[in-house]
Amino acid sequence: MLRDLIIKRRSYRRFHQDVPIELETLRELVDLARLSSSAANLQPLKYLLSCDPVKNTLIFPYLAWAGYLKDWPGPCEGERPSAYIIILGDTEISQSFGCDHGISAQSILLGAAEKGLGGCMIGAVQTKGLREALGILSRYEILLVLALGKPKETVAIETVGPTGDVKYWHDDDGIHHVPKRTLDDIIVG
Ligand SMILES: Cc1cc2nc3c(=O)[nH]c(=O)nc-3n(C[C@H](O)[C@H](O)[C@H](O)COP(=O)(O)O)c2cc1C
Repeated sequence: MLRDLIIKRRSYRRFHQDVPIELETLRELVDLARLSSSAANLQPLKYLLSCDPVKNTLIFPYLAWAGYLKDWPGPCEGERPSAYIIILGDTEISQSFGCDHGISAQSILLGAAEKGLGGCMIGAVQTKGLREALGILSRYEILLVLALGKPKETVAIETVGPTGDVKYWHDDDGIHHVPKRTLDDIIVG
């Protein structure tokens, strides 16, 4: 059921780094994005794939993880992503990418969840450094990085409490808690 898949698709930030993801798997995930909606059907998104440990090492330093978890610097060696899909906007097709990359990212992460994988959209990217590290041409705008792997953490969805605090948090057992607003809070009429 779609609802089950949407619930399964959490943002995961700790992975079994030793479990590889094949290039063909990444291509299947991008194919889901290819079939997704695009404003004016321009399809301006392009994708850079990495499932190679050396290339992954080049990408990792330019990503910021879980800004609310001040005491957690991001996944340690051994718990880092096995693969990345970098979503690029081709400026030779369009100058603005609207919400195409959000739709694309959700399609890819739902596909990953269906395959028993998990991941996280990373918008906090040091794009200049990443561009230089991978030699990404200037015609491509770096829009989002999707980190992917076999999840190594448990994520629990909570309800936002009376204080209205939406910050996710880790408990002593390492479980990642994510507060979500209630349905009545978000339907305004
Ligand atoms: C556009 C976008 C950018 C995001 N950027 C980051 C990021 O830079 N680093 C990070 O750790 N998580 C990032 N996230 C993940 C959010 O923190 C996550 O979606 C949120 O905590 C809710 O958790 P959930 O995805 O499990 O529902 C991003 C999510 C979105 C939609």
